[in-house]
This record gives sequence, structure tokens and C-alpha cells, in this order.
Amino acid sequence: MSRPVLVFDSGVGGLSVVTALRQQVPGLPLAYVCDNAALPYGTKPDSWLLRRIVDVCVAAVAASDARVLVVACNTASTLALEALRERLAIPVVGTVPAIKPAARLSRSGVIALLATTATVTRPYTDRLIEEFAGHCTVARVAADPLVAQAERWLAGEPLDARVLAECLAPLAAIAKLDTVVLGCTHFPLLRESLASMAPGPVHWIDSGDAIARRVVQVVGEVSQSTVSSGAFLSWATAPDNPGLARAFSGFGFQPPKRLNEAS
Ligand code: DGL
Repeated sequence: MSRPVLVFDSGVGGLSVVTALRQQVPGLPLAYVCDNAALPYGTKPDSWLLRRIVDVCVAAVAASDARVLVVACNTASTLALEALRERLAIPVVGTVPAIKPAARLSRSGVIALLATTATVTRPYTDRLIEEFAGHCTVARVAADPLVAQAERWLAGEPLDARVLAECLAPLAAIAKLDTVVLGCTHFPLLRESLASMAPGPVHWIDSGDAIARRVVQVVGEVSQSTVSSGAFLSWATAPDNPGLARAFSGFGFQPPKRLNEAS
């Protein structure tokens, strides 16, 4: 099998990006790494997180012999893309909130960004909004508890409807809202439940398809000789977690091996 595209997230959120990748590039050799020992990223201090993300990604690229790194995490991408590109010799594809397509799609010009505390407050996000949604009203809604809900859901545990309702409650107060950006890769995993509890008819936009298109540009066509045989490897910083193994196996990945993230 040829060298894989490595998908990285703090937890299972990157699996929403794996789905988009497989839809656009069936057979693409993939590997997955999550830093679940440090989950959640969205409430951690930037200076600590930056070092941690670089250490984990450098170790995971070496372990997987990846040809491309996909940072399938908005919280990590809005902070660490530059540092990762400086440190790694392979192409790095990032994930940032889908503000641009949301601003194009919205008829009312009123958008909400649903993401982690870190992502909604980052200068990177300020710049995205200024550049692509200057003509819109963009409400920033931090919804960190949805990260743990997505982890539970993929581990086969039930969702807590009260937590979802609390996270979505700020949306009901936004007049003329018609578009919600899912600015955390964990959130598309809950899309059906979120949509069923939303205050009104809104479009839900995430970055999965755009990332997959970018990966296609970077890797080019996947020839039949390099199509994956199905042995998708995964790594985690806290692999001894039956829920995680279950989530990975639902997406065709082998149980995670331990990643030692020491730099
Ligand atoms: N999945 C990550 C993102 O896209 C964040 C989850 C976390 O807080 O660890 O932002």
C-alpha cells in the first residue's frame, strides 16, 4: 500500500473529515491519529496547545510514514498551521470554519459560527470573518460540551438531549438566522440530532467537502495500484479506551496503537 494521508484531531472529530475524503476519493489510503489524552483542545491555553500539537503531529507523521497531513481540527488549524508547515517536510492541509461558503449561501446575511471557545475567539477567525463575511452579521457561539457528546455518540453511548439543547439555545435568540457553520469537526457527527433540535429551518455547513477537494489537489488522482487494501492504521495518545476502538472500527480503522508524542 502506498503512503497514507494522515488525518489528525484531538479525538474522533476527524472521522467526519474521513467520511468526506472517502466520498470524494474512494480507496484513498488513510491513517488516523488522535490526541485523546489531551481532549478537549478547545478550552486549553494556546501556548501549551501549540507545542503539544506540533509534538503529536511530528511523532504521528513519523510513525505512519504519511505523505500528507490533514489537520482535521479547527481548534488546531486556527492556531498551529504555520508552525506545522515549518516543522514538517510533507504538505499540511488545514481545516478552518466554513465562513466563506456560509456567507455566500445565506440569504438573510445572518450566520452563526458554532465552534469551540478557542476557535470562536481566535484572531484567525476574526480575519476569516472580516475577509469573507464583512457584509454579514456573524454570531459566535461556543459549544464545547458538544465535543464530549460526539465522543460518546461514536462510542455507542446515548446523547444527552439536555446538553444539546443548552448548546443550541443561543441560536434561538438570533433574529433572521438562516445558516450555521459547524466550526468544529466533532459537530457534523451530530448533524442529524442538531438539525432535529434547531430553532428553525437553517443550513448547516461544515468544511469536510472543501478539505477533501484540497486533498485531491495535493495528492492527485489515486491510481488503482495504490488503492487501500483496507488495513487502516490508527494511533492515539490514550489508546486504552474501548469506546475509541469502537468508534474507529465503525470507520474501518484498526484499534489504535499508542503514540509517544515526546519531541
Ligand atoms: N474537533 C476539534 C475542532 O475541530 C476540537 C475538539 C476539542 O475541543 O478538542 O475544533
